[in-house]
Amino acid sequence: MQRIPEPELMDDATQAKAYAEADFGEANTLFQNLFRDYFPSHRPRRILDLGCGPGDITLAFARRFPDSQVIGIDGAEAMLAIARHRLAAQPLLRQRAQFRRHRLPDPALAPGYDTLICNSLLHHLADPGVLWQEIQRLGTPGAAVLVMDLFRPASKRQALALVERHAAEAPAVLRRDFFNSLCAAYREDEIRRQLEETGLGHFRVARVSDRHLAVHGRLN
Ligand SMILES: C[S@@+](CC[C@H](N)C(=O)[O-])C[C@H]1O[C@@H](n2cnc3c(N)ncnc32)[C@H](O)[C@@H]1O
Repeated sequence: MQRIPEPELMDDATQAKAYAEADFGEANTLFQNLFRDYFPSHRPRRILDLGCGPGDITLAFARRFPDSQVIGIDGAEAMLAIARHRLAAQPLLRQRAQFRRHRLPDPALAPGYDTLICNSLLHHLADPGVLWQEIQRLGTPGAAVLVMDLFRPASKRQALALVERHAAEAPAVLRRDFFNSLCAAYREDEIRRQLEETGLGHFRVARVSDRHLAVHGRLN
């Protein structure tokens, strides 16, 4: 199936609210477990979460690494408003976590992060090179990088089957977004090419579920 792009930003308040209220516990836990398995001895100090959305993973990393400062960035104010609301309810994290509006690529976003994490942003980008170039610019040498995203199934039929398997009970808006995201996602071979083209060919790409790929490595 050819890639069918979807809009980059999730800036519609209804869409952001539906996304924030959905249960992504399985994928979010998978993301955290992958980070633990890929970087068992890494002690993050400055973490950047690219395309943080409502901030669930950002805040989970802040809780998990009490010596870290964590910044979540997103281009969509509707998502950031939800993320800031969630942070406000967790007083112990307020000194160490922040959510800021940046639409990638953004030279105003200053570099210097030893840990870069990103879940479910890549498939939104019309130019996927933007993510890999920004990761290289923003990370310090040796920085740990974990990017997870959906991969595009072979057909719309397979995409529909995944929606049925994983979101049968979800509201219509979420089922539609999930289907559109599967159709917009990049395939494993496309991601490998993107990495080669941006000097990150040493990163590893792996299928980690029936719909997710994970890319990880350390910056040179
Ligand atoms: C599917 S959500 C994922 C949110 C979060 N990472 C998670 O795992 O729940 C993708 C997010 O990427 C944001 N986004 C898309 N394109 C972006 C860009 N060019 N710069 C910054 N954020 C972007 C969207 O606004 C949206 O909040």
